[in-house]
Order: sequence, then C-alpha cells, then structure tokens
Amino acid sequence: MKKALVSMAALAAVLFAGIALAQSRSAVGEVEAMRELMRGFKPSGQAGLSRLVQDEVQQFCSDPGWQRNKARIAAIEGQQLAAVKYPADGKLMGNWKAGESIAQSGVGKQFSDNPSQPSGANCYACHQLTPQELSFGTIGPSLRNFGKTRGSSEAIQRYTYAKIYNSRAYSVCTNMPRFGHSEILTEQQIKDVVALLLDPESPVNK
Ligand code: HEC
Repeated sequence: MKKALVSMAALAAVLFAGIALAQSRSAVGEVEAMRELMRGFKPSGQAGLSRLVQDEVQQFCSDPGWQRNKARIAAIEGQQLAAVKYPADGKLMGNWKAGESIAQSGVGKQFSDNPSQPSGANCYACHQLTPQELSFGTIGPSLRNFGKTRGSSEAIQRYTYAKIYNSRAYSVCTNMPRFGHSEILTEQQIKDVVALLLDPESPVNK
C-alpha cells in the first residue's frame, strides 16, 4: 500500500513537470509565432508596426475574464483618465465645421495614407451624428442631439474631450479608438470634433 502511494506521488510529480514543460513550450511558441507575424509586416505610409504590440490595457482586455476584475477596471480607467492631455490654452471647443469633415473622413493610419497628411476620425463608421448623413455605423450609440441634451458646461466639455482623447478612460475595453492617446488626431482636431458634438449651431444639435 505504502509503495503504491509513493509511486502515485512520483507519477503526479512527473505529470506536473510535464504540464509545466508544455506550458513553457507554448509560451516560447507564442513568442516565435509573434516574431514570425511581425516579419510579415512592413511599415508603410501612416501604418507603423507599433500597433501589432498590445499595451497593458489591450492585454487586460484580451483576457476573457476581464469583466470580473472590477478593481483592476477601475484602476486602469483612473490611470487612463489621469493621462489625458488637455489643451494648454484651456479651450476645449474648436470649429464644428472643421469637426464635421474630420468626423466624416475615413482617411488615416493605413499603408496607403500619406504620413504628411492629417488623419480623419471616421466617427460616422460607428455613430450617427447628423440627420443629413444617410450612411453611418451603429457599433457606437447615436450621438444625435448630444449637446442639446447634455449642454456644454465645463464638465461636459472636459468629459467629451477626454472621451475622444482616450475612450478607455471611461470604458476600459471599448471598441472606440483612443484618438489622442494613439496620436490619430491632433489637439486642434479633437477640439473641432468636441465642437461638432457640443456647439448649439452644429447640425448634431439641430
Ligand atoms: C470603431 C467604432 C467607433 C469609432 C470610430 C468611434 N466611436 Fe465613439 N463609441 C464607440 C462605442 C462602441 C461607444 C460606446 C462604448 C463606450 O462608451 O466607449 C462609443 C462611445 C462614444 C461616446 C460616449 C457616448 C455617451 O453617451 O457619453 C462619445 C462622445 C463618442 N463615442 C464620440 C465619438 C467621436 C466624436 C468619434 C470620432 C472622433 C468616435 N466616437 C469614433 C465606437 C466608436
């Protein structure tokens, strides 16, 4: 009986060692697969290679159990919000007309886009904004009457600017791009899009 127990323990030890080895092998396999994947891409136009590497927040969101980790969600959102760079001149609203063409432009961050040209934001790919626009995506909520229903107080301006600058500050695993954080839009472009959402004269609020 004693002998049997010992050999069971020995068997378990061998099994555990085997599992550990398989795990470390798969980690090595992952690194190799990533290296191979990276070799297949070349930077071109506005498309660099940095996007192939997930940052800490993206890694967190790739874990299927992320929704259960409430404390970490709150901590990451707090960090992302604290890192938002607001304009030095304190003005958060630019020109809504410029904002409308930025929201409509799907140019940006592709290999065929000229690096010396500004990117668009393609907000319409995911949001309804103005009633005139016939075609828009519905991945994000409709932003019709965004300013009309929320006003344009300092707090709303700061929320809107920060949401566009870094959407993950308010919704950690959102599908919305981080326009300022990922350097897709410039500070002035973000101000213009904020105006599109909040200016009472903007078609979003008519
Ligand atoms: C790839 C899709 C996508 C794109 C492109 C996108 N968004 Fe979003 N957006 C979302 C999703 C999904 C949500 C809802 C989840 C969340 O809050 O992040 C959202 C939420 C928002 C909100 C919060 C709405 C609220 O009720 O407070 C605002 C404001 C917003 N988007 C503005 C914009 C603007 C402006 C642009 C263009 C500069 C843009 N979005 C581009 C997907 C997108």
